[in-house]
Amino acid sequence: MPLIALLPGDGIGPEVIAEARRVLDALALDLTFEEAPVGGQAYMRAGNPLPATTLDLAKRADAILFGAVGDPQFDGLERRLRPEAAILGLRRELGLFANLRPATLTPGLEDASPLKPEIAGAIDMVIVRELTGDVYFGEKGRRVGPGGVREGHDLMRYDETEVERIARVGFETARRRRGKLCSVDKANVLETSQLWRDIVNEVAGDYDDIELTHMYVDNAAMQLVRNPGQFDVIVTGNLFGDILSDQASMCAGSIGMLPSASLSSWRSSLGMYEPIHGSAPDIAGQGKANPCATILSAAMMLRHSLDLADSADRVEAAVAKAIAGGARTADLGGTLSTSAMGDAILTAL
Ligand code: IPM
Ligand code: MG
Repeated sequence: MPLIALLPGDGIGPEVIAEARRVLDALALDLTFEEAPVGGQAYMRAGNPLPATTLDLAKRADAILFGAVGDPQFDGLERRLRPEAAILGLRRELGLFANLRPATLTPGLEDASPLKPEIAGAIDMVIVRELTGDVYFGEKGRRVGPGGVREGHDLMRYDETEVERIARVGFETARRRRGKLCSVDKANVLETSQLWRDIVNEVAGDYDDIELTHMYVDNAAMQLVRNPGQFDVIVTGNLFGDILSDQASMCAGSIGMLPSASLSSWRSSLGMYEPIHGSAPDIAGQGKANPCATILSAAMMLRHSLDLADSADRVEAAVAKAIAGGARTADLGGTLSTSAMGDAILTAL
């Protein structure tokens, strides 16, 4: 029986994970669940944002459903003790190198997007973000230079094997969609990006059927707002992908709607699934959070890790039906609580 590790974490994490759990239970699949603390919550209990027992559970599991981590009360801690260290540690320890962030406008939410409805309505893309390299994981440090001037640095780096494997995920993703791949970099300035571009071009030799383009990240940010419908699949590095995926999510109506999957280099079925929004400490515990992103992440989990595509389709259809029927949490301009939104989705299911 597949084992699901539930890591609710901080802020609104527990509230949205609870709704996803209700949806999974309603499907009556043969799944076992084990829960473990992570993030600030784990630091409070165990003095470590990623306790060994939590990491061990994640390694044993067939899939991980993750809520969110982060709370400003921990901002003063050293970096390795902050909640964010937990998610970065999970990504590194489980080899979760490929982050798929689909951004699609759910019909009915055209008005929730800050873009004009006819522009927002065309959004249907997947951002493939590299997740275990780049400036996130390069050498970092502080020092005091001449004259007592304080300095900080973070090394941006990729090697060709890291670029090649994420490029292949990008091409394969495009092959299952509209056959268009846009690689985003900053090759006009950064050497890391020039290597990235060279390798993507080499890999393209194996994918004659895919239309490959390259775009600088500043232009990509602009094009995402001007004409997001032009994108099918975007493949990019860790930092650019972090920024562009938040932007794409808002263009598609609300950051409360978008799921993600992080796939492992260990075995192709292992993955961690999480909403792309954070812990939102400002609304935590108030029943205001939109559970859709987490419920849709659970659907991605059913499809990628558990080979339950029919169940995934059912969950996605239920979310679409609830939205089409007018169910809206506050981020979507409505008044439903987190659990009332869950109820609407369960009814649709
Ligand atoms: C994300 C988040 C994380 C990131 C944070 C919480 C470390 O913003 O998953 O996009 O920067 O990757
Ligand atoms: Mg982010």
